[in-house]
Amino acid sequence: MIFRQFIDEDLGCASYLIGDGGEAAVIDPSWETTPYLEFAAAHRLRISRVFETHTHADHLSGRGRIVAATGAEILLPSGAVAAFPHRPLREGDVVAVGNVRIEALATPGHRPEHISLVVTNRSLSDEPIAVLSGDSLLVGDVARPDLATRNEAEIEDAARSLFASVRRFADLPDHVEVWPGHIGGSLCCGSGVSEKPSSTIGYERRANLGLATSDRERFVDDVLTRIPERRPPTADVVVRLNRGPLLGKPAALEALGVDDVQRLLDQGGAIIDGRPVAAFDDASIPGSLCLPLGLSGIGTKAAWLLDRDQPLVVLAATDEQAEQLASRLGAVGLLDVRGRLTGGVEAWKARGRPLARIGRVDAEEATDLVSGGAVLLDVRDSDEHLASPVAGSLQIPWRDLRLRAAEARSSRKGIVVACATGSRTPIAASILTEIGGPPVFRLAEGGIADVGNRLSRRYASDRRQPAAA
Ligand SMILES: [Fe+2]
Repeated sequence: MIFRQFIDEDLGCASYLIGDGGEAAVIDPSWETTPYLEFAAAHRLRISRVFETHTHADHLSGRGRIVAATGAEILLPSGAVAAFPHRPLREGDVVAVGNVRIEALATPGHRPEHISLVVTNRSLSDEPIAVLSGDSLLVGDVARPDLATRNEAEIEDAARSLFASVRRFADLPDHVEVWPGHIGGSLCCGSGVSEKPSSTIGYERRANLGLATSDRERFVDDVLTRIPERRPPTADVVVRLNRGPLLGKPAALEALGVDDVQRLLDQGGAIIDGRPVAAFDDASIPGSLCLPLGLSGIGTKAAWLLDRDQPLVVLAATDEQAEQLASRLGAVGLLDVRGRLTGGVEAWKARGRPLARIGRVDAEEATDLVSGGAVLLDVRDSDEHLASPVAGSLQIPWRDLRLRAAEARSSRKGIVVACATGSRTPIAASILTEIGGPPVFRLAEGGIADVGNRLSRRYASDRRQPAAA
């Protein structure tokens, strides 16, 4: 038996390939399917089946691309809505992959149709060795129950279903491995999910309150009070797309010239720039979004900021990276990528068009700028700002900045963009670049608290100085 976990670092999703006897099954595939196809080819496995534990709300399934490449059969929970041929799996249904037995276990809660898959390697034993728990039991926590409905009573019912589902895992022996559909950082999870990619029933029995408690109301209260405030931003459209019809591999990106790109921008389009942050700082197309391929979460960040019907153009250091960037956008349902800008910012510049520049500053330089009249823009989320406000800053969460950029441009002296650690400043600063606008700086070292402390000290020492005659 060959067992392999694949992690989509951008979204925190985990998927799996189980192979035996020359065939393989992929479970909960990501939108990008090359890793499964390459792995199967390298191990001389024919992918014959694609399983899904539920209809995903945070990422597009790559099942259509796997079917197009391999002719695999799709197996879905029997309650899933799907406009494509598939085999429905009910509680207790068993499917064989070589000598591996995969049994469906109904585990509703995160979504009503949700199933988990209990895996037994019959070459070794008739006891199960692992459970692919999808978005039910996660490492350290359980999944959120509110993505299938916005109705409060239904969410509470879903939390009760989740409790019953989790109790089913408690019936499994301690040695059974737990392989979840998400790891920490995913928007499908509660706040307690570990970054650990797997666990065992025995460990979770001790460490996971969701599995440890047999008090249903306590479980439900805990789950409901910890529901994250934010839903995956494209959840509704992603669920609709995942219900079908099947999506194949997108065509290779079209090479677009400067005039083509300008036309798309005039039609309300947006440029997504996946180059490294420093390259973006030094020269970028004004108004383009900085989403460097080297950082995680860029698909979700794009989904927060872009409209579903907005035509997109990607820009990256190489054509291959442009394709990767388009794939990250497609994974969250942003499929209207019209092409890549050939020649990048150099081509833009060669046509005499202006480029934007973002200044990189440390906390001391940022303090000098703000003391001299620049706006200190706090792009942290509101809860972070409330927990540790910085006097004298303007607070606009990065997610709202596209709508509220004019407020930040209130001083011609410039804008200093800052967050807690610097991870959100590249995208926020990029939103503020415009032709003829105030200069934009981003705090590239340290966090906004460092600037706030320096400003307070300066203000206190200024007050101690006698007024000039
Ligand atoms: Fe999910």
